[in-house]
Amino acid sequence: MTPYTKEQVLLQAENVCLNYGDKSVLRDINFTISNIVRPGMSQGQVISLLGRSGIGKTQLFRLMAGLQQPNSGKITLYGDKEVQAGDMGVVFQHYYLFEWKTIHQSLLMATRQNPALKGNEKEAIEKWANAFEITDSLHKYPHHLSGGQRQRASILQQLLKGSDFLLFDEPFSGLDVCVLDKVVDMLLQVSVSDELKTLVIVSHDIETSVAISDTVFILGKEEGKEGATVKREIDLLERGLAWQKDVRREQAFIDTLDEIKASL
Ligand SMILES: Nc1ncnc2c1ncn2[C@@H]1O[C@H](COP(=O)(O)OP(=O)(O)OP(=O)(O)O)[C@@H](O)[C@H]1O
Ligand SMILES: [Mg+2]
Repeated sequence: MTPYTKEQVLLQAENVCLNYGDKSVLRDINFTISNIVRPGMSQGQVISLLGRSGIGKTQLFRLMAGLQQPNSGKITLYGDKEVQAGDMGVVFQHYYLFEWKTIHQSLLMATRQNPALKGNEKEAIEKWANAFEITDSLHKYPHHLSGGQRQRASILQQLLKGSDFLLFDEPFSGLDVCVLDKVVDMLLQVSVSDELKTLVIVSHDIETSVAISDTVFILGKEEGKEGATVKREIDLLERGLAWQKDVRREQAFIDTLDEIKASL
């Protein structure tokens, strides 16, 4: 098995609760995302957050992005800093883009928020646009792009901002199989682009999410209790199911999918 260690804490949720009126939506959410280190490699983290429709995934997503505050508990980065809006790159389900700007203009704006790209903004856009196969779309407006092109542009826009954390709400929905493969490849490229890069994927597509993740959190309700919590954490590293191109063919992968479906 590929050697790895888990080192410093990147993100931690502690006793996070969210209510609407007297209705509990999220209850006692606790989990930790640590930096996974592989000797001699730049290796980011890919986390899937899975759960049934309406369970609270998007609500937790909003809390993690700092777009909303929990009623109690907290989400911190690097051990102490409470998460705030703007700390993370956020890719919403409907791929938000500035409709009045060309893709290139939007991407340029994103690169200007990233000190690491100073002086090399245009080269960075060129390099990633090529990798994401949207070079031909750069000088178009979003409404002239296909759904898949919009999605890739929107992911790239968040990527170029340079935040360590990227959150995706349903990144695989509505894509045909070929585009889906491209998006998966892209996410993997992003995840290994930096040691601290952490992707959190909220999705209904269990198979695709699990195939590219190292850790899975399952959001669900415990018997007799209102409000969803992280019912299970599955460490795909321990099972030897992370970082393998053909993982979907492995029996252990198929068994893990069955196990996840049974606990949703
Ligand atoms: N503003 C609100 N006021 C009251 N309840 C809300 C509000 N927003 C969301 N909820 C409730 O929170 C729960 C979780 O919703 P959420 O959108 O997080 O589900 P989800 O897991 O993302 O579902 P899906 O997979 O369908 O996207 C739902 O029961 C929803 O009705
Ligand atoms: Mg949702």
